[in-house]
Amino acid sequence: MNINGVPYRTIWLKDNYTVQIIDQRSLPHKLVIEDLKTVEQAAAAIQEMHVRGAPLIGATAAYGMYLATLQHSELDFLKKAAHLLLQTRPTAVNLAYAIKKSMQVLEKTPNENRKTAALQIAEEVTEESVIQCKHIGEHGLDLIKAIFKQKNDTVHILTHCNAGWLACVDFGTATAPIYAAYDAGIPVHIWVDETRPRNQGARITAYELLQHGVPHTVITDNAGGHLMQHGMVDMVIVGSDRTSRTGDVANKIGTYLKALAAFDNHIPFYVALPSSTFDWTIREGIKEIPIEERDANEVKMIQGLHNNTITSVLLTPRHSPAANYAFDVTPSRLVTGLITERGVCDASEKGILELFPERDTSLNPSEGKNIPL
Ligand code: MRU
Repeated sequence: MNINGVPYRTIWLKDNYTVQIIDQRSLPHKLVIEDLKTVEQAAAAIQEMHVRGAPLIGATAAYGMYLATLQHSELDFLKKAAHLLLQTRPTAVNLAYAIKKSMQVLEKTPNENRKTAALQIAEEVTEESVIQCKHIGEHGLDLIKAIFKQKNDTVHILTHCNAGWLACVDFGTATAPIYAAYDAGIPVHIWVDETRPRNQGARITAYELLQHGVPHTVITDNAGGHLMQHGMVDMVIVGSDRTSRTGDVANKIGTYLKALAAFDNHIPFYVALPSSTFDWTIREGIKEIPIEERDANEVKMIQGLHNNTITSVLLTPRHSPAANYAFDVTPSRLVTGLITERGVCDASEKGILELFPERDTSLNPSEGKNIPL
């Protein structure tokens, strides 16, 4: 996707020793490109959210493993590097997906070939994400087209957080159908939840949509229910950080409340996700998906631009405690459908397995087992 007319991805190799990322902490006010040269820097970039969004976290971890092989190619060091990366953020399963993919290959590769192998995996994870998001866009486009055909007027879509190209490598998950619809000439308008506390909607989704020319309006996190009650939302599309094999969806905190409001108002609620976001070992999302709790200061403070400088100010009484649950789980019964790279399916084990039959535990007994690093 483009920034000021220049095509970008969110992560790329600058030279054989340097991975570059867009440091998303400065968006939308400044475009900062950051160099990563070590696995420690890659881990910090994930943990401190220079990069964020499940697919991009996965791609950064895969490049982190490559940077680790440049530091030392012995297996002991690489295992430690894998654990360092794995501990950065607990909810997005794409992290473990990418690290396991890399480690499985590195364990079988002789020492001297590990750099090349790790780079190959990082490039594979990255390219795979781009292709998956492109297909998600194509499948989601059909859903938007159907609504447009029915109402013959602007399709109003509500989204939460940033499940856009800046959360992935390109295109995005929830935004891929939106960009596809806009590019196909379908009139769309996006309600963008601000997404406290880090405001990924207000800062990043709004920035992306503006760059692409997609009409949108930023709303407070609590406005969605009101808009739905007044017929101002035709569909909701969100992303996911981890989806159980039964269709329960972990996504940015507040997603569940949007799903409840959509359900109450008979508004379709779709979740767009690549298959790398399924956790095939989990059946009960609410019980089993680990929910990240971040620093309370993210709730107590708010960041913005003042006198051309990005700055943080205190929002709460200095001594009021705050809690910062970063994700919640939307049970599958509230989800109209999952938009994946293979098509749209019901948010149920049966629906998911129709698209991903190779994950059926009755056909393949090793499926559904958690293989540790
Ligand atoms: O905390 P973040 O910004 O990493 O959370 C991101 C989200 O919740 C996204 O909706 C999710 O990762 C899907 S990204 C395509």
